[in-house]
Amino acid sequence: MKAAVRPRRPAAPALDVAALRREFPILSRKVHGKPLVYLDNAATTQKPRAVLEAVTRFSEEENANVQRAVHLLSQRATDAHEGAREKVRRFVNAREAREIVFTRGTTEAVNLVAQAWGRRHVGPGDEVLITAMEHHSNIVPWQMLRDEKGARLVVAPMDDAGDLVLPELERLLSPRTRIVAVAHVSNALGTVNRVAEIVRLAHARGVPVLVDGAQAAPHLRVDVQALDCDFYAFSGHKVYGPTGIGALYGKAALLEEMPPWQGGGDMILSVTFEKTHYNEVPHKFEAGTPNIAGAVGLGAALDWLGSAGRDAIEAHERDLLAYATDRASAVPGVRIVGTAREKAGVLSFTVEGVHPHDVGTVLDREGIAVRTGHHCAQPVMERLGIPATARASFAAYNTRDEVDALVAGLGRVREIFRR
Ligand code: ALA
Repeated sequence: MKAAVRPRRPAAPALDVAALRREFPILSRKVHGKPLVYLDNAATTQKPRAVLEAVTRFSEEENANVQRAVHLLSQRATDAHEGAREKVRRFVNAREAREIVFTRGTTEAVNLVAQAWGRRHVGPGDEVLITAMEHHSNIVPWQMLRDEKGARLVVAPMDDAGDLVLPELERLLSPRTRIVAVAHVSNALGTVNRVAEIVRLAHARGVPVLVDGAQAAPHLRVDVQALDCDFYAFSGHKVYGPTGIGALYGKAALLEEMPPWQGGGDMILSVTFEKTHYNEVPHKFEAGTPNIAGAVGLGAALDWLGSAGRDAIEAHERDLLAYATDRASAVPGVRIVGTAREKAGVLSFTVEGVHPHDVGTVLDREGIAVRTGHHCAQPVMERLGIPATARASFAAYNTRDEVDALVAGLGRVREIFRR
């Protein structure tokens, strides 16, 4: 009998980038008289018309508060808000919509877990295991918990390329480890971490895992069931949605047993001065009027991503990153920072003899937006022995021509600073 041949994943259809760009009004503007080349997508992505219009339509036609009134608009607003929750559920492939908590973004999602889960489960002498490539949002909330509880923050190392040293991470999982918190993709280096493997190692010791997906959700398919992670956080504004909205996925059983972290309306079933009964998950974690229009915009962004084709976007961005890496490395004096085995979306670099802020300023005069500095990941810079980098980060609408513009801009940087 012939051996079964595993069907290959069909190649993603090519992305029609020119058509897709026309959906983003801001991309046709000029900066300092030059066409905008927007390469700061890891900080925030631009928004397609579908998102802008969904937010406006909601505000013009359906705006009301959720879950409070019997009138039509309140029903509509509630449906729109819960509809957006269902879209997030589908986006991360959670089992149930109640496993999705709306937050302001990744930062608030991590703080929610550190406070609500952490305060209950982390005590004196316990350990929280993070990695050397976390950004501040996945460091500081755990430090605050550590300081409150007398716990320890343990940091799994990375190597010079920006790859996590997995055997070290495994060694650092101790009987005192209470939670592992790890970036899916590093914002400063672009490293894609093997989170399924990390989850497997942690679960073998009964330790839950929070995955910070802020930089992964825009680039990779996220499947929380396949990863088997316990929490997954991401931000709307990095997936073509509005600012001020994001989501925390949490396994239902964990969310159920967590206490609320903020008190107020909507998170309660009944209140007397003696006692309050809390609402069910996820509402227990959503005190006060939520960012309803933001959730609608996020839902529209996820719809847009789906219709643009997530596999096609991933393939396109992979090509762009490889092309940009090749071209930028060929510029004399340019050094790529972060050469991990698997990367997504991010090209960090330095230019010999030129401060990254000066690189950014010269590029800006050419209409090219990159981020410069420590990228809210100071320990990463410290580990690599550099104060800062310039960072180009890619989205679905970027093109090889824009990479060429970046490379020409780097030539301009060298011209100016050679004088
Ligand atoms: N974390 C965001 C960035 O990397 C703000 O730029």
